[in-house]
Order: sequence, then C-alpha cells, then structure tokens
Amino acid sequence: MNNRANYEAIYRRSITDRSGFWQEQAAFIDWATPFDQVLDYSRPPFARWFVNGTTNICYNAVDRHLAERGDQTAILWVSTEVDCRQQISYRQLYRQVNEMASLLVELGIGAGDRVLIYLPMIPEAIIAMLACVRIGAVHSVVFGGFAALALASRIDDASPKLVITADAGMRGGKVAPYKPLLDAGLAAVTVAKPKVLVINRGLASEPHPIAGEIDYHQAVARHAGQEVAPVWVESSHPSYILYTSGTTGKPKGIQRDTGGHMVALRMSMRYIYGVEPGDVMFAGSDIGWVVGHSYIVYAPLLTGATTLLYEGLPIRPDPGIWWSLVADYKVNCLFTSPTAIRLLKKTGVEWIHKYDLSSLRTLFLAGEPLDKETHRWVNEALHGPVIDNYWQTETGWPILTNFAGLGLMDLKFGSPTLPSFGYETLLLNGVTGEPVGAHTKGSLMIRPPLPPGCMTTVWNNDQAFVNTYFSRYQEPLYATFDYALYDEDGYFFIMGRDDDVINVAGHRLGTREVEEALCSHPGVAEAAAVGIKDDLKGQEIEAFVVLMSHTTPPTVEELKNVVARQIGGIAKPKYLHIVSSLPKTRSGKVIRRAILAIAEGRDPGELPTIEDSKTLEVIRDAIRER
Ligand code: PRX
Repeated sequence: MNNRANYEAIYRRSITDRSGFWQEQAAFIDWATPFDQVLDYSRPPFARWFVNGTTNICYNAVDRHLAERGDQTAILWVSTEVDCRQQISYRQLYRQVNEMASLLVELGIGAGDRVLIYLPMIPEAIIAMLACVRIGAVHSVVFGGFAALALASRIDDASPKLVITADAGMRGGKVAPYKPLLDAGLAAVTVAKPKVLVINRGLASEPHPIAGEIDYHQAVARHAGQEVAPVWVESSHPSYILYTSGTTGKPKGIQRDTGGHMVALRMSMRYIYGVEPGDVMFAGSDIGWVVGHSYIVYAPLLTGATTLLYEGLPIRPDPGIWWSLVADYKVNCLFTSPTAIRLLKKTGVEWIHKYDLSSLRTLFLAGEPLDKETHRWVNEALHGPVIDNYWQTETGWPILTNFAGLGLMDLKFGSPTLPSFGYETLLLNGVTGEPVGAHTKGSLMIRPPLPPGCMTTVWNNDQAFVNTYFSRYQEPLYATFDYALYDEDGYFFIMGRDDDVINVAGHRLGTREVEEALCSHPGVAEAAAVGIKDDLKGQEIEAFVVLMSHTTPPTVEELKNVVARQIGGIAKPKYLHIVSSLPKTRSGKVIRRAILAIAEGRDPGELPTIEDSKTLEVIRDAIRER
C-alpha cells in the first residue's frame, strides 16, 4: 500500500470507528484505573474521552520513564541570553518536580486549584507545569511577551491561588522585566490576590521578592528530597487553561482535559512528528503558546524523548545558532513558525549549510500561513521534508498535516496537506452553508465530537464554548474561523481568518483587544485596528484613532506605547494614524473590512450600509502618511 492509501485507511477508521481507533492509542499511556468507555458524547458538543479512567500527566511524562531512561536527558536548556547550557536527566527532573510539587502543597495548592505561570524560557517553567499537574492543580501559563493588563484579565478569569514568576528574563541581550509587570497587573485585578512565588535569577536591578512574596530558591531548599505521590485524576479533569484571542474583546480560557490530551499528543508524536523515545525534539516557540505546551513540554516528555528548551532569539549571536544546536545535540525533529524561517531566509542559506544537519529528519512549521516560496526555499535548503501543519490553541495538535511517522505523502508547497486523524473536516460556503467544491474558498468547519486533546470547554463558561464555536450553522459544527480551499487531490490551503483575529509572526491577537487598549487612553474617543499583510511577519497591526476634542492630544508614539504597556510589545501597532472619523455602518459599527481593504491598497467594493462614504477618503489620506 502506498503512503496515501495507508493514510486514507487509517483516517477513515478514525472517523467511522472512533472508539476503536482511540482505544488503541490509549495503550501508549499508563492508567491507574482503566477507562470504561472511550467516548461519551451524550451531551453534544461536549465530548468526554476515556470516561472513568484515572491517570496523571506528570507520572506519564516523568515517573514512567525512570526505569528505562532515568539517565537520559529530558530537558536540554540552552540560553544564549545568559550564556548557559544545562542538561537535566529524567531522574533529575523527577527530583526537581517532586520538590516543587511539595512546595506547592505546603502553599496550600490542591487538585483543581489554578496556578498562573508567568516565566521566561527556563527549566523551572517546565518544572512548575509538571509540578502542577502532578498534584491535579490547573496551570495557566501566560506568554512572557504579555504585559500588565493581559495578566490582570487572565488572573481575574482564572482566579489562581498562586502566581509563579521570575524577577526578569532577557531578550536580545536586554533585561526584560517580569515581576514589575506582574505587580502592575496585580494592582488591577478584581479577584482575591494570589500568593506570589518568585524565581530570582539575579537579573533585575531592584531586589525581588519583596515583603509578602516567597523566594523560590529558599523555599524549595526546605523540600529537598521530598516526594509527592501523583494525584490520580479522572480523565476529563482539567490539566490546564490557556488563554487565546478571539473576536470578542476578552481572551478565552481554552480548557484541556487530562486523558484525551495525553493520548492525542502521544499519537501525534508517533504518526505525525515521527518522534520516538530517545529522540531529540527542538520546538523553537515559547512555552506561553500552545506550540510550547504541546511540543516543548508535554508531547516530547510523554514520549520519553529529549526536549530542547531555548531562551534567546533565532538570529543571535548569529543566524546559525539554531542550526548549530541541531548539530551539537543531534536534533531529530525541529518545529518553528514560518516567520522564523522567513527571518533566517533573509540572512542566507549559507548559515544552514555551515552545519552537519544529518540528524535532522523533519522540519515542521505552524502557527500562520506558510507561503509557497518560503516552503520551497527551506525544503531545498534542508533537502526536505518540511511539513506545514495547521492547528489552533483550541485543538492542541494538528488538524491538517502530513505524516512523517506514518509515511510521508507527497508535499505540495504552501499546503498543510490533509486532515489529521479524528478530524472530520468540512468546507462550507459562508452564506449558504453548502459544501464547496474543489478550488473554492469556504469556511473550515469540523463535525463534532472533536477528537481527544482538543478543548473540552471554555474555562468557567460552557455557554461561550457552545455559542462561540458551534453556533454558525443549523447543524452544530465547530468553526475554526479560518477560510480554506482544497485542490483536485484533496490537499488543503489555508486562506486566513474569517474573523477579527490578527496573526503577527504566529502570535494570535484580537483587533478588539488592541482597540480597547487604545480607548483606555483618556484622549481617545474611538479606535479601529486591522491586520495588514506583511512580507516577514505575515501580518502587522495598523490602527486608526479618533481623539476626544477637549483634551490635550496624545502623540502617535504615546498611543502606540499604551498598547505595548497594556497588552505587550507584540501588540504594538506598526502604523498608527490620528484621523477625524472612521467608516461606519448606519447602525454605528466600524467597517474594519473596508479599512483593511484600503490599508492593503485594495478596492473596498460595494458598501451599501456605509453611513458616510467620505470617511473612506479619511482612511486613504491617512495611509499616505505611512
Ligand atoms: O489562522 C490559523 C493560523 O493560526 C490560528 C491559530 O493560532 P493559535 O491558536 O496561536 O495556534 C497555533 C497552533 C500552531 C489558526 O486559526 N494557523 C495556524 N497554523 C497555520 C495557520 N494558518 C495557516 N497555516 C498553518 N499551518
């Protein structure tokens, strides 16, 4: 059987015999009590996988490997920021995770309690995540690039008992504060203030922790040698919450379960990523994003592989750094974003060819559309295969992909290939809801139940889960919010979001979040933000602001900085224009679609509901000042 036919057979079974397919995959995970039902779908669209099975993620990611690979490196930490390399074996990881878990217990954290983790790319971040799941606590990791108000809104929603942070990180050789941003965030929260545990790296100029906070190194020293038995939780017990941006202003807490999460990630390593126990995986992402959760932390450790955790930039000290790490540590599987590759492409192929990359089997790219040219370029530079895989925070693992582990199917540049196992994908006309044919753009939907590992609900808000994702058509189908098309071979091509989400260098942001940050400035009356095409980062943010008439007008730079301060540097608009008015419908809604068309040099087309078409001229005049 060729690879395509083999894929087709397994794919078909994953849809027509879901229970049989996933039951087999569940055998790769250790269960304390076996599950008595693979799937309970009695309350659609809520799916429960591996019902009544009890297990523990930390046990499966750490303890289970001790007998066979206790001395194998679990985490390889490389920091080009503080110039340090460290190897942590599974045995050492076990010890450190137990000590941190013991400290968490002393701090009153138990099963179901939330712990917010706001840390740079240091081993303690992984250790903290594992310590939480060991005792059944639910972690919520916040990306280090987010700032005070982004932290405050997540703390308000998750109401954590504890926040784990560091004094500072380093980015591009400069100290990046963490603790001061957390302090500013905590000043704005409305829920009970959590305890604060600070990992002092000695990087900040001011001393941390301060009164009332706990010094991690001192506290954990009291737990040296302590062991904490893993807490066996039912399969659907939440393992973590990860906030992500959508169309509405407030980021949503994507909730992941325990059993389904592990089974799906382990399956993805075997079939998709082709990573086996003992292999080395390097995901050049951040633990604060879903790629970091799944493919820096959980999937490699559940597999008994070695994960490379990298603190630094891909082009510092030089653009060869990642390739040198692949050569030094015999990395087998590399995963990053198209933007990182476009950045490296600009620096030239010689940086790739300088190193012995014979260990590297596959490069995976995800997080944003991968353009044909970049795909072709890096595929040639590495002599293939480079696999584009498409997924979301919501799903936790690929929806569309090629399969390095199972047997690669033909690559098509710019295409994430075919649906992954368990995903019944549909492409529908946005207006009629009818399926579209080949080469026609449609909305990408998934017929539930969502497979294991996908979000089980929105934290604390089942209604938002149903309303946000399953209410577009008569039939409750999961909306990805992406446009796509497929070709004559069934290969998919992703055409971008059909909502107001902006994707800057693989970082997902909501236009509404940016607008709300701008409107928090007392001088701003209203604001519109759009994501315009950018050759390097995929998209950049362009904002248009109408000022209040009776206040001292703020400067453009001041307004850009409001966004950076509140949400984080990644959300800072590239262009910001102060304008006299915005294009709106007669009912007063800003027509972002028209603003975006003009900002990208396109014709906004017919706008029958526009209140005043002169406002389009205002936008045209503004972008001339770029
Ligand atoms: O628009 C799609 C885009 O990124 C969104 C999900 O972003 P996030 O939740 O941060 O998860 C990233 C997980 C890799 C999607 O809705 N996206 C992700 N991967 C691709 C992509 N767009 C095109 N091609 C991809 N391979």
